[in-house]
Amino acid sequence: MKNNFIVGIDIGTKKISTIIGQVKTEDERDEIEVIGYGIADSSGIKRGVIVDMNNTVEDIKRSVKEAELTAGVEVESAYINISGSHVQSISAKGSINITGGRNREITKDDVDRAVTHGSSIMLPNNKDILHVLPQEFIIDTQDDIKNPIGMTGNSLEVYILIVTASKAATRNLLICLKKAKIDVLKMVLSHIATAEAVLTPDEKELGVALVDIGGGTTDFAIYEKGALKFSSTIGVGGFNFTNDLAIGTRTPIDKAEIIKRKYGMGMDPNLRNQNIEIPSVGGKKMRLINPSLLTEILKPRAEEIFEMIRNKIEQEGLENKINAGVVLTGGTSQLDGLLEVADEIFSTPVRVGRPTGLGGLIDKVNTPDFSTSLGLIKYGLLDMRNRGVMPDSSSGFFQKVREFIGF
Ligand SMILES: Nc1ncnc2c1ncn2[C@@H]1O[C@H](COP(=O)(O)OP(=O)(O)OP(=O)(O)O)[C@@H](O)[C@H]1O
Ligand SMILES: [Mg+2]
Repeated sequence: MKNNFIVGIDIGTKKISTIIGQVKTEDERDEIEVIGYGIADSSGIKRGVIVDMNNTVEDIKRSVKEAELTAGVEVESAYINISGSHVQSISAKGSINITGGRNREITKDDVDRAVTHGSSIMLPNNKDILHVLPQEFIIDTQDDIKNPIGMTGNSLEVYILIVTASKAATRNLLICLKKAKIDVLKMVLSHIATAEAVLTPDEKELGVALVDIGGGTTDFAIYEKGALKFSSTIGVGGFNFTNDLAIGTRTPIDKAEIIKRKYGMGMDPNLRNQNIEIPSVGGKKMRLINPSLLTEILKPRAEEIFEMIRNKIEQEGLENKINAGVVLTGGTSQLDGLLEVADEIFSTPVRVGRPTGLGGLIDKVNTPDFSTSLGLIKYGLLDMRNRGVMPDSSSGFFQKVREFIGF
């Protein structure tokens, strides 16, 4: 059995979380055990974009340090995420001729050539490519092919989705990671990492809407036929709920945060006959409020977010692509009553998605606010396998995650 490591750092608006996973390969099967985790408050990011680099560097360092201490390994490289309204997707098509005889089988090399042909488009020079995602292959006239390797034909075409991000945003993130002395193995669209942790292969195949409501942003993605079809990011999240509550009940922000987490939207029937104590700003005495006031303040915000998403789905003509329903995740998906509001707005099943498919210390990080960081290590393992870089001691990767002496 080989023991190796993969690290994911989720650079969020509310927190920066680092997860260290250990890959165990037994009988050709890979499993990831969480062996370390670190969480630091994030103080330099607004709506998913870095606004204070120095703070972000310090926050990354604290998060990584804590994870290193729990795992007993030193982190030198990681998969990181990126999100924000600057992320855009472009559809493109690549095509190549298959030469070398009628019965020559299509190889991985051919697939790579077709994808490269499709992705060699002119990009605005303020954009970087994050992902090139094959959607569907066509051999001669036969379409809807998932994996053409081993098939025969004269021509190979591929539809791809190219995900781009603003160069300024990617550069700033890379600078922060460099200052924190972490090599970036790959920058992954947050939606893709999160999907890896919470969606089932069936959901991705049938069609599903993934909604990750974090602190400052809501990431929204549609998967169908196993591939990402659409992604967008809205600059609204848990902070807005807290802020609405602070203003609506005239209480300090930190107290509003506690009340929000404890009573949610005040929709629990058990709260019906009780009043809630609430502190006033400026240290004045406590007041009592009826839980229905929480509903009155917070429900419109939840409705606003879900209506924005529903409108996007309609605008893009994606209504009939979400046969498996809606999956909510991210810290704010834990807001009591949110699921019920989503149920009212989407005419399809809604569930809360937690990270699955990992072992080890997963109990410590098994909540929806760790979906992205845990998804990053799952993505990382797939990425290494795809590129033929095994996370084991014979590859260069191992040298990047150096073990502490004595571990
Ligand atoms: N039990 C809970 N009830 C309601 N809200 C919660 C609960 N736990 C966490 N939250 C909210 O979740 C939000 C943070 O979510 P998360 O950790 O997913 O954000 P993030 O990934 O740092 O931010 P982003 O993805 O927007 O960059 C905060 O606004 C917090 O108030
Ligand atoms: Mg997040």
